[in-house]
Amino acid sequence: MRDTDCVALLEWALPRLGMRWAGFRRVRRQVCKRIARRLRALGLPDGSAYRARLEGDPGEWQVLDALCRVTISRFYRDRALWERLAGDLVPALGDALRSRGEIELRAWSAGCASGEEPYTLAALWERALGPSAAGLALRVLATDADARLLERARRARYGAGSVRELPPAWRAAAFRREDSRYRLREAYARHVTFLRQDIREAMPEGPWHLIFCRNLVFTYFSDPLQRTLAERLAARLAPAGLLVLGGHERLPPGIAGLAPLAGRGPPVFRRDMEMEME
Ligand SMILES: C[S@@+](CC[C@H](N)C(=O)[O-])C[C@H]1O[C@@H](n2cnc3c(N)ncnc32)[C@H](O)[C@@H]1O
Repeated sequence: MRDTDCVALLEWALPRLGMRWAGFRRVRRQVCKRIARRLRALGLPDGSAYRARLEGDPGEWQVLDALCRVTISRFYRDRALWERLAGDLVPALGDALRSRGEIELRAWSAGCASGEEPYTLAALWERALGPSAAGLALRVLATDADARLLERARRARYGAGSVRELPPAWRAAAFRREDSRYRLREAYARHVTFLRQDIREAMPEGPWHLIFCRNLVFTYFSDPLQRTLAERLAARLAPAGLLVLGGHERLPPGIAGLAPLAGRGPPVFRRDMEMEME
């Protein structure tokens, strides 16, 4: 399949799935490869023939939707973010929760891929917090639309490339070597529960003290859907809860109740306290 053919197909199809071409421009090679494989499996010659197939077969949209999932992730992705979370943001959140008499910090990782992001939070909790975590439990819900990735996440075994960016002391403490793979220890894995969920259709209710929504909604989704989902995310944050985006992402303008925090690395927003004062 020629690149121009694939691009034309994506420009037509993505908005119908709530997505936008701009988010895919740089990563289209992997998506186009999968679509080309699908065309071969269906015996179709090109993008126009696939478009005709989509127009006549509503079930094929689900197949295309799955082909368009970009699944890249790794532990400690965006190092500046994790340094900030460990050094300042999570300890402050923990102190605030304890002063309100809460017993757990509840976090949600939306679009968690194979578990790299929620397990990095578990490692941060175990390795970096010390007294700031005393008396508090960490509970992480990690959701993704892709059942295969969630299966891998539950297995919690990774290649060296996935864990390369973790601080060496965290890596050594959190994993056991199994041949050439790294297996996450149960003491870390136990913090995280995985759930299959399409964020366009459903979200866990919360309220959440910490939401990671990185490299999914605010990269690949259409502008109207970004706005709708940003409002839903804000509504699911607890007072003073934090929303973390990906390194190259921005929130749509004018989302009520969220204030950006100054600092290095990817954008972080804090939910205002108004809910508590109501
Ligand atoms: C690029 S990865 C980001 C992983 C991680 N958040 C990070 O930043 O490293 C995007 C993830 O979103 C998932 N995803 C794609 N569409 C989704 C949807 N509609 N609902 C939930 N998850 C989705 C993909 O399966 C993939 O695991």
